[in-house]
Amino acid sequence: MDAFIIKGGSRLSGRITADGSKNASLPLMAAALLADEPVTFRRVPELSDTANMARLLGELGCDAKSGGPGVFTLSNVDTSLTHARYDIVRTMRASICVLGPLLAKRKRAAVSMPGGCAFGARPVDLHLRGLEALGAKIELNGGDIVATADRLKGATVFLGGPFGSTVLGTANVMSAATLAEGRTIIESAACEPEIVDLANLLNAMGAKITGAGSPRVTIDGVDQLGGADHPVLPDRIVAATYALAAAITNGEVIIDDFPYDYLLAVVDRLNLIGVHVDRQDENQDPTCCTVKITCDRRLKPTIVTTQPYPGFPTDVQAQMMALLCFAEGNSIITEKIFPERFMHVAELTRMGAQLFRQGPTVVVQGNGRLVGAPVMASDLRASASLILAGLAAEGETIVSRVYHLDRGYVQMERVLASLGANIERFNPDEVAEPLKKAEPPLVETVKPKSLAGKPG
Ligand code: EPU
Repeated sequence: MDAFIIKGGSRLSGRITADGSKNASLPLMAAALLADEPVTFRRVPELSDTANMARLLGELGCDAKSGGPGVFTLSNVDTSLTHARYDIVRTMRASICVLGPLLAKRKRAAVSMPGGCAFGARPVDLHLRGLEALGAKIELNGGDIVATADRLKGATVFLGGPFGSTVLGTANVMSAATLAEGRTIIESAACEPEIVDLANLLNAMGAKITGAGSPRVTIDGVDQLGGADHPVLPDRIVAATYALAAAITNGEVIIDDFPYDYLLAVVDRLNLIGVHVDRQDENQDPTCCTVKITCDRRLKPTIVTTQPYPGFPTDVQAQMMALLCFAEGNSIITEKIFPERFMHVAELTRMGAQLFRQGPTVVVQGNGRLVGAPVMASDLRASASLILAGLAAEGETIVSRVYHLDRGYVQMERVLASLGANIERFNPDEVAEPLKKAEPPLVETVKPKSLAGKPG
């Protein structure tokens, strides 16, 4: 398991480009299961999650042919396969995206029930209720969700839950409804840009979807879907993470392909605390433009509440917490999407952060200083938060288990190093092995005499 070693204190400067969006790519790729012709994707980020999705689709008879970096074409060569196995689903919850497309196109889907994750239970009840409303029969069999339907029938489906709508649930129901008989209305649909991107792909394939990006999406079912050629939208969470990396090091960074319009809630909070996100050319498309990040010497504290889009994204909460450690005064962060998503709190505390958690709220007492320490990544965005903290901390930080990070950021250490960060990837097992050989066995020196020689 790789780790990063970071020597903090370098101000980031330079120019980078945001990758294509992971969270858009996964449901987009799954939607290729609906097509009768090949579907080509561009700007797909080369990540373990997108590789896992390609592997899962391969197991479902949907082959991927590479067309160069970030480009590949998916074609259905065997439409008899319908089982998404536990071995893959457990590595990536987003495997649930294949449920709707498989059911609609192949009349049956068996998808291993995803478990919880580091930050909570993560149920899929809304996905299942939505598909049942379209006429699917759903059973749980040996840990698999088994959904069957001869042909789905359009219906009005309400997808609001206790924490707002569901992004992947909306993707599943919207994808399935494209091939249903008649009209489906999704009420309380997720409004995230990734849903709009999916609707754009499905419409390019021949679907009839209107209203994507608003809480009411209308889908008029069609008999079949064809191919398409689709560029994935830029990753708003990756773009925001690098903007925050620039800010936490008091740096000056230009970011190309920055989805400014999709990050207005983040830009708003950054402006308030003294971080400037300036568009470089007003004529550019505001969803994919060039911005320059600069910041005031002293940052002000603020209040951050995560909410469904267009509110402040939960996927940037952990990184924002690291930044607010450097504001002068108390900030308040409240998590309204995943109330347990605070795995980074204990690790940031190891670096000297003054954090006080009460349920879904954390008070960040900014004191302008963190100190490097060995810390452990526990999920994707928590990892990003620890790396940001390490960039600004005094001394050396070792972030272990960065495989979480590799799920969502393409070679983050290289991107940060290109901006002047002192960061390297290494394998702690390879470093520890020679040390183990060189040192005398610890047990001989510390064992009390009375226990010496007994099995330990
Ligand atoms: N929820 C339910 N029932 C459901 C589904 C969701 O109660 O059937 C609840 C969840 O427990 C949560 C809330 O609804 O409290 C929102 O969950 P949602 O379903 O929207 O999450 P998701 O679709 O599984 C996607 C992203 C997450 C991101 C969330 C929220 C992908 C692959 N994942 O997950 O991204 O945090 O939306 O915006 O798109 C990440 O990238 O680090 C990540 C976790």
